[in-house]
Amino acid sequence: MNVRKYLAGLCAAILTLVLASAPLRAETLLEAVNGSPALIGESYATGLRVFKATCAGCHVGSTSRAPQIAVLRNMPPATIYRALSEGVMKPMAAGLSDGERIAVAEFLAMRKLAAADTGPQIKTCAAAHAGFDRKAVPTYTGWGFDPSNTHSVSAKAAGLTRADLGKLKLKWAYGFADSNRARSQPSLAGGAIFTGSHNGEVLALDRATGCERWRYQARAEVRTGVVIEPWKGGDRKADPLAFFADLAGNVYAVRAFSGEQVWKMRADTHNAALITATPALHDGTLFVTVSSLEESSSADPAYQCCTFRGSVLALDARTGKEKWRTWMVGEPQRRQDETGRVEYGPSGVALWNTPAIDARRGLIYFATGDNYSQPATEHSDAVVAMEMATGKIRWAHQAIEGDAWNVGCYVGGDNCPDDAGPDFDFGAGVILVRSADGRDLVLAGQKAGIAYAFDADSGAQVWQRRVGRGGLAGGILFGMAAQNGRLFAPVSDFGEIADKTHAAMPGMNAIDIATGALAWSAPMANTCSAERKNCYPGISAAITATPDFVIAGGDDGRLRAYAPESGEVLLDMDLLRAFKTVNGIAASGGSMSGGAAPIVDGGQIIVASGYGHAMKMPGNVLLVFEKQ
Ligand code: HEC
Repeated sequence: MNVRKYLAGLCAAILTLVLASAPLRAETLLEAVNGSPALIGESYATGLRVFKATCAGCHVGSTSRAPQIAVLRNMPPATIYRALSEGVMKPMAAGLSDGERIAVAEFLAMRKLAAADTGPQIKTCAAAHAGFDRKAVPTYTGWGFDPSNTHSVSAKAAGLTRADLGKLKLKWAYGFADSNRARSQPSLAGGAIFTGSHNGEVLALDRATGCERWRYQARAEVRTGVVIEPWKGGDRKADPLAFFADLAGNVYAVRAFSGEQVWKMRADTHNAALITATPALHDGTLFVTVSSLEESSSADPAYQCCTFRGSVLALDARTGKEKWRTWMVGEPQRRQDETGRVEYGPSGVALWNTPAIDARRGLIYFATGDNYSQPATEHSDAVVAMEMATGKIRWAHQAIEGDAWNVGCYVGGDNCPDDAGPDFDFGAGVILVRSADGRDLVLAGQKAGIAYAFDADSGAQVWQRRVGRGGLAGGILFGMAAQNGRLFAPVSDFGEIADKTHAAMPGMNAIDIATGALAWSAPMANTCSAERKNCYPGISAAITATPDFVIAGGDDGRLRAYAPESGEVLLDMDLLRAFKTVNGIAASGGSMSGGAAPIVDGGQIIVASGYGHAMKMPGNVLLVFEKQ
């Protein structure tokens, strides 16, 4: 990367982060969002004025439940507008004109309200495609495809061999309305594809044609996948539920065959809380892992960092009632330094990923993020085994000690903790596998660029293998896959870091699960040209393995398949282009950089593309490819 490009990138990164975070004092707010009025025109000035005068009193700072700006940003403008005109914020907005409500909604969402309102008509399914096939039980139980999170598919289920990869044809494309990213992993059941979206719509699309069987409007972006409750094939009375969560911290259950809401609950009253991980369902219990944006809110020096605490919740899947909750860190204490500055800690240890289920041991396994403030604690950047029945921690293995960090460190703000750590969270879901020597291992991949194996019984580390340099959004980010004795570890290594010990190593890797030895490494060629703004080599997204190929969406907008035995590239398809969609929404592909992996099933590859976030390439399309 040349120096100019890097500096430009860094400025953009700071702006993006501040824009994305920005729970600011009213004065710094203006500075922070400076440069973005282009997105919303005149609403910018009006929206800012209204926000400062009418909303900031509760939505800036620590008012319980009142979402911080960073969280409000995840809501579509229509939802914010509705909250002000007919919802919970109606009394607060009573003195505002309709124009002012629209302006503040657009200011917070940073996009126009009209775009959503005047979009094309919903393409509802005609009778022949509207019904759910009760024989087609859910193919995968959740984000990890199986309870162990292997992200692998059998040859039979895949229905695609490597010879078919050259014969893929686009069957249909669906455009997400009012969206610039598509990072919910599609799931399959009843002849439908279920997915969340940037504007909070959760959709059940007919798998054959892409028409809509139903849509449900959540409060904020749904970046989790949709988990479908299993049912007995052909059961005519089955009424399975579908579960998902949003970027404002709400968890939902709707009827999978109608989209009708059954329950909804808020997983955490902290005003920066949100949910990125697809919940895990096991035997009537839904395990929900909670994360937050307080880490980026701390970019504002006036923000009193930090009070959010990561937690795991076990819910009764049928009712949404809490069975237990385990906090990953103790209660934050207030303290004041000699200059009078107030801060809180410990905090953080957000959870970004879906737990793996170990029914035999009665455990769930997951991995954690960093602390936001000092003191750093023992369960940050750790892999954790927790009892399913009680929420008690059975064992925890910390990969890096003392990692207290927040975006204040990135922008040089006062909130950066003393002795700040490297921000090496575990973003990717861990995988439970049996190794060739009969031992059960928990495999984890970290932003440090390192993959680890831990003994499932004791938590002792069995091996670790560096496959990347690491970075804030580098290393192993959102997911690995394991199959036939091999762990496939994708690496992003996006951006620059101060530690120059290792060179960036974007690409795909295969590790022998029993020994930790590197089987192969397939560095990714940089195909990003000047026209591809925000294109980077590397793989941030979760991936999928079949016995014949490993498939991964790149930060560079290309879908690649690798030979599992050698790393040879078997498919390299550019998705950065416009697509004609079945629902008439203008759509294009972009970076594939989130927690969603390409789905390989029944001779098809189903992939969501676009990541208008964190300096990657926007897009808003769901694509279904099929072998000819
Ligand atoms: C008196 C404090 C207060 C003021 C003033 C206030 N809010 Fe809120 N706001 C809250 C609280 C508390 C919640 C959470 C409500 C809940 O969880 O039921 C909330 C929730 C919201 C939500 C989420 C609603 C949803 O459906 O989930 C939006 C959007 C919102 N506020 C926007 C605004 C805007 C815009 C303004 C200014 C015009 C504003 N609020 C003024 C306290 C306030």
